[in-house]
Amino acid sequence: MNFSPEFLDEIRNRLSVSSVVARRVKLTKRGREFVGLSPFSNEKTPSFTVNDEKGFYHCFSTNEHGDVFTFLMKTQNLSFPEAVERLAEEAGLEMPRADPREVAVVERAVKLREAVEAACMFFQAALQKPDGARALDYLHGRGLGDEIIQRYRLGYAPSGNVVKTELLRRGFAEDVLLETRLISEGKEGRESFDFFRDRVMFPIFDARGRPVAFGGRVMGEGEPKYLNSPETPLFHKGGLLYGLSLARPSVLDKSQVVVCEGYMDVIAMAQAGLTNAVAPLGTALTETQLEMLWKLVPEPIMCFDGDKAGQRAAARAAGLALPRLKPGLSLQFALLPSGQDPDDLIRRSGADAMTQVLNGSIPLSEVVWRQVLAEHQTDTPERRAGFERAVLERVGGIDDQSVRDQYRMVFKDRLRDMFQPQRARTPRNDMGRGRGRPPFRGKTPPVPMAIRPGPARVLPVDRLRERILLATLINHPEILGHIEDRLGAMILADSRLDSVRQSALMHLSHQLDLDSQTLRAHLDGLGYARDLESLLGEDTYVHASFARPNAEPVKATEGWDDTFGWYQRSGLEADLNQLRDNLAVNPTDETVAAMNSLAEQMNQYTHE
Ligand code: UTP
Ligand code: MN
Repeated sequence: MNFSPEFLDEIRNRLSVSSVVARRVKLTKRGREFVGLSPFSNEKTPSFTVNDEKGFYHCFSTNEHGDVFTFLMKTQNLSFPEAVERLAEEAGLEMPRADPREVAVVERAVKLREAVEAACMFFQAALQKPDGARALDYLHGRGLGDEIIQRYRLGYAPSGNVVKTELLRRGFAEDVLLETRLISEGKEGRESFDFFRDRVMFPIFDARGRPVAFGGRVMGEGEPKYLNSPETPLFHKGGLLYGLSLARPSVLDKSQVVVCEGYMDVIAMAQAGLTNAVAPLGTALTETQLEMLWKLVPEPIMCFDGDKAGQRAAARAAGLALPRLKPGLSLQFALLPSGQDPDDLIRRSGADAMTQVLNGSIPLSEVVWRQVLAEHQTDTPERRAGFERAVLERVGGIDDQSVRDQYRMVFKDRLRDMFQPQRARTPRNDMGRGRGRPPFRGKTPPVPMAIRPGPARVLPVDRLRERILLATLINHPEILGHIEDRLGAMILADSRLDSVRQSALMHLSHQLDLDSQTLRAHLDGLGYARDLESLLGEDTYVHASFARPNAEPVKATEGWDDTFGWYQRSGLEADLNQLRDNLAVNPTDETVAAMNSLAEQMNQYTHE
């Protein structure tokens, strides 16, 4: 039962700490305090003090500290309500009666929970019966093993009114089943009926891992694809994250949480060993959910599909987070190849591909920049000014002053870089470019990235390779489809060229005809004329004739792949060297495992 703060204060007011303590400990007054021998240790010189004005005791030998309630709890081994009851009596106060309405609500919630739990077990059991064979096949067919099916307590809701019949038989009242929405009210005097019929069942757990609702998926075609429990007294979908109770240990362990879009993404990630994934429940992320995530880790990774809908979702998440940023708190964004969710990617390309996508995630600031850029043209002074204003307006939406100031500084630098090509530039405050990964984060050995994160360890020869890769695209935009994912995930060491890369990709993504002339004109218009002049010249072509404008497209494609392979390999080599250095000082199994995995990847790039 909950005691009101006023009631507890009334007890504290009526009973001084010294009077309660004095019954066990002989106290002597010293100044404003009392001292005595600690009841918590066996001491000869008094280190136990009581301060009535402040209402607490403190023991300097054991660091025990508390008020009248804790004193009784500790010295007489009572529970909190017991201590309250004892002291209330002593203070001459009547114990408050439990609010009958409150009691009723709690008891009702217990009943609802029991019903949902019983249904959950029933669905689980049904999955293993002949009736559920099709559902079980369906789950197996989606790559889930029995262990994961158990862990997420997946089940099958048969057709007919079986849940209703079964739970009524087990003594649950019909109105309880109605309130959990396991069954629905019949219309026009008809019988109530099962809400979920012939669906694969995904129980939704509360923070403590108790099922409170369900999502039911059709097998094959049918609408809706997922039928979800409506809101109930147990289930407020904006306040829950699917999979969190199961993910929590791994989230805390890795200090990272990945937010996906759907049930199956979370489960497919877990099946692939990426156990730190959660999902909002079929809606955009809510403020409550964002705050929950920030309580777990400082920079949750939002994982979105690379297509239009995914971009919109990313924009919405960014919009939610921006005003609420605090020093150290932000979001990262992992962008998936277009049209694939984590489940698809893992099934198609394996867990490593997913890990690479996560490792390649970009900071919120970068997402915001790209969003504003995508909404603006910057080919005339007026349009640039418009772009600048829009960027700064976005930044103005950040409530926290110090975060806002940092954003403003970084974006102003970036604007200057973008529009003043001739100026000698100072190295700018990078926005997540070349975020050096620490060699080891938590217990997971570093997973090498297929697509290198940034310029930190780029060799001169790699700078040349970056130029070749970009030049080839500009002269041969028709190869876009073949290279888009890889070029899209790269970050070039030269930040100007990287802006060219971004602008080129952005432009091409809106274009129906992939045409070099138009692309160049567009980039010239953005102020990159000089950069292109130096990029698209003999200095580049002598090393790579396939990059020339008149090279055959198939040569351009091959050359690009080749160069990218070398570029990758040398990045991996740099990683390997770093690990080797690491091994000397820190010879762990993880380091060795990470080295082996790197070596394997390098082989892959040499034999390709
Ligand atoms: P998706 O349509 O992306 O489904 O919806 P999915 O997760 O990829 O599912 P599979 O792989 O086809 O099985 C993403 C999330 O949106 C909610 C669900 O929470 C789903 O996981 N959703 C989707 C619904 O609630 N109802 C629907 O009809 C569809
Ligand atoms: Mn899916």
